[in-house]
Amino acid sequence: MESAGLIILAVAGVALLGILTRGLSAALAARKQARQLERVNSASAQLKIGLLSSTLERTHADFSIRKRPALWYDVLIARVDQESEDVKSFYLIRQDGESLPLALAGQHLLIEMPAAENRSKQCRCYTLSDHCDNGYWRISVKRNSDSPESVSRWLHDDLGKGDSVRVKGPSGSFFLQTTTNRHVVLLSAGIGITPMLPMLRETLRRPHASLSLFAQFRDVDHMPFAESLLNIAHQFPIVHMRLFLSRFPRGVTGGKDAVIQQGKFAASDVVATLKDPLNADCYLCGPEAWQSELFAALATAGVPESQIHFELFKESEKPVPHNSVVKQQPCSVHFRQSNKLEAFAATYPNLLGFAIKSDIPIDSGCRTGACGSCLVKLVEGKVKYTRRPQFPLKQNEILPCVCVPDGDIVVSLGKFLISVQFCVALHPIFSPKIRIIWFQAFGQLQ
Ligand SMILES: Cc1cc2nc3c(=O)[nH]c(=O)nc-3n(C[C@H](O)[C@H](O)[C@H](O)COP(=O)(O)OP(=O)(O)OC[C@H]3O[C@@H](n4cnc5c(N)ncnc54)[C@H](O)[C@@H]3O)c2cc1C
Ligand code: FES
Repeated sequence: MESAGLIILAVAGVALLGILTRGLSAALAARKQARQLERVNSASAQLKIGLLSSTLERTHADFSIRKRPALWYDVLIARVDQESEDVKSFYLIRQDGESLPLALAGQHLLIEMPAAENRSKQCRCYTLSDHCDNGYWRISVKRNSDSPESVSRWLHDDLGKGDSVRVKGPSGSFFLQTTTNRHVVLLSAGIGITPMLPMLRETLRRPHASLSLFAQFRDVDHMPFAESLLNIAHQFPIVHMRLFLSRFPRGVTGGKDAVIQQGKFAASDVVATLKDPLNADCYLCGPEAWQSELFAALATAGVPESQIHFELFKESEKPVPHNSVVKQQPCSVHFRQSNKLEAFAATYPNLLGFAIKSDIPIDSGCRTGACGSCLVKLVEGKVKYTRRPQFPLKQNEILPCVCVPDGDIVVSLGKFLISVQFCVALHPIFSPKIRIIWFQAFGQLQ
């Protein structure tokens, strides 16, 4: 009897300890989350300027950020701000209260909209529109469409403070070059302002910052971040800032030297401000045709092409082909992991659409060759690019969203390895560190 009593006591003790430990870790996570929330609320539009502690340290940190694989996180929407008529900012913190990985100014997140009854899962890229060393990630999203498949509509209409989202990142090769101290030229149109905001702030941390920003907006109602941009222009006269409004308020006249200008800025306006084109890094984000025009003007003015960086948020209606004409000959695609051989139809604009149609699981995000989500290994054969990839590729890596086969090809894609990859990666016995090593090893294998 006595021993039975002892056993019951011991079991009860263990159970109580379990409850206490769980309660304690939940309380700790909640405390961490509360601290993060505090930071989110106090950080609003506060521009923290601190000189770089050491360029070497910074370079080292940037290099490790670039090398780090993008991982999935469950994040919580801690705050939502309406920035203009159709743009909202979402402040994200980690659900488990842990700190978020750092990002380079200009990088983006991949946001997953879960599958629902009559729609499939969708992923889209959103640039971090603020420094992430405040303990939160901020994305600023323009509501793009009313379609049920639209991720921007979902974020605007269906999500709010307290909701959770799955995100992957940060990643992307469009980021401020921090190892140089060249003059920085930021050029944006519309929602293309998002990568420019952290780049602007990061540049202002440099000891001898030299910087110009030309941003195009539709009108005052579609001018997100106007107040913080004007504050920066006022606070930092070294910034040559010009904000252009296609539709100017009636009765208002902007002087030649005013920050807010009427009309659209031309490539010649930008070129005219370049004192030393060889010593400039230019960053472009806006529609494709607009980017092409500016790219050509900057290159003609003498800015080395390697110093003109650009990011495309969406495909234009009429893609500007990288190879002047991509003629498609009949060929086959062998998806190695599924051991599936399919005839590639010329009607497919790219290999990604073809893989999806062939029921081959493949990730995607930007569909413009920017995010690297669809990256796979080409085992045999060649591909032709329909658009210049913006994501850096190693030998034998391809971006199916912007290429088509050039003859018969074998690609490392299919169901078998992907399901094995996720079974291993998600198995609870593996720590996050092991998972990272696994993903890196898998990347080499694919
Ligand atoms: C690197 C990068 C950074 C970006 N940063 C921002 C940002 O900071 N703020 C912002 O507002 N927008 C940003 N975008 C654009 C954003 O990713 C979305 O394209 C935009 O919000 C419209 O998506 P939607 O789902 O609302 O609209 P939809 O109308 O549903 O889709 C718009 C476009 O997405 C493509 N598309 C359609 N179906 C799919 C699919 N299944 N998977 C992938 N693409 C598909 C098509 O090209 C379509 O024209 C960025 C894009 C990229 C590539
Ligand atoms: S989907 Fe982004 S690079 Fe292909």
